Amino acid sequence: MNPLLCPKPGYAAHERLPWRNVLAPMEGVGHPAFRHAIAAQGGLDLVCTEFVRVTSAPMNPELIRRAIQPSPGLALSVQVMGNVAERMAEAARYVSEAGATVIDVNLGCPMPRIVKKGVGAAMLRQPELLFDVLSQMREASPGLLSAKIRAGFDDAEHVLEIARTVQRAGVDFISVHPRRRADFYSGVADWRIVALLARELDVPVIGNGDLWYAESALRLQAETRCAALMIGRPAIRNPWIFRQLSELRAGRAPFEPTPLDLLEYLHGTVDRYVPVFRHVRGQGVLGKLKELCTFVSRGILGGAEFLTQVRRTQSLDEFRGVSERYLAALPSERLDLAAEPRHGLERVGTAHSNEAAARTA
Ligand SMILES: Cc1cc2nc3c(=O)[nH]c(=O)nc-3n(C[C@H](O)[C@H](O)[C@H](O)COP(=O)(O)O)c2cc1C
Repeated sequence: MNPLLCPKPGYAAHERLPWRNVLAPMEGVGHPAFRHAIAAQGGLDLVCTEFVRVTSAPMNPELIRRAIQPSPGLALSVQVMGNVAERMAEAARYVSEAGATVIDVNLGCPMPRIVKKGVGAAMLRQPELLFDVLSQMREASPGLLSAKIRAGFDDAEHVLEIARTVQRAGVDFISVHPRRRADFYSGVADWRIVALLARELDVPVIGNGDLWYAESALRLQAETRCAALMIGRPAIRNPWIFRQLSELRAGRAPFEPTPLDLLEYLHGTVDRYVPVFRHVRGQGVLGKLKELCTFVSRGILGGAEFLTQVRRTQSLDEFRGVSERYLAALPSERLDLAAEPRHGLERVGTAHSNEAAARTA
């Protein structure tokens, strides 16, 4: 076992990870300004970067250096995606020498432009190549190495076989988003797959997918005995979800944000985004904020109206004004950001059957 993980002998796999709450990698969303904004709300342990694409061309260390912007006091996992073993091994060396806590390999991205190149989820169909890439990365770097998988490409029948191949290559832990590539984001995450891997593998397993409320997330963790929870979209929707998880674990009353807390968060995020995106070509600061509000509005009962108003704004001042007017007038009962699903606007992953998922819809 890698001594960088909790080294106490005799500990079960799910007790060996030093982290419980993990921010999922999210391309286009998971830039440092967003990661720091979420980290600032508390409760987070490990932060993942969006993927850095590694091709057959010589590595550009600048790309890795740009990804390595840890949030103060938190561990950082840098994700890479590629299928050329030598280049991936080189990337592993760069990442650990540059000071990241973990190098993670993307084995789940479902996008056609990615799969067409034989990387991301396409690697799930190529166990030999997968083994070769991970083994060479393992040899190249003594640092923590992990992989993030989906349940399969077209079916989930081989998920245990795939996970065992990944384990055999020497990774220190595995994160799983229990949907097939064919699902993209449809349906609901099948936590029975997380339970299967947590039960059968020797390495710790991190569960991910549709953990929309802190209370249900903890219930799924207890049922599956996975080592930690990885959360992506639900953290864009509710930036306090990691804080709520930590408070519940500590037996304290979980934070219940008010509309004014949400307003303060949004305005704080404007200030964080301005220096970063002001000079970036493309959608700019306002575009990034509107993208964020697609998920933020899902935490508000009737939030479509908020999103429509935000999408119409043409300047940051207008954005600030619209969010202030809307949220200052919003009754607290219309927020769905408590630790438990009061309004149940989102479908939580299920460790039982799809009927159970339908009931939470
Ligand atoms: C906009 C977006 C970008 C994503 N980019 C990545 C990525 O770069 N690497 C990765 O492994 N997964 C990526 N994912 C998948 C998430 O990490 C996560 O597995 C998925 O969203 C399910 O978890 P959630 O329900 O907590 O969001 C992305 C998801 C979204 C929504």
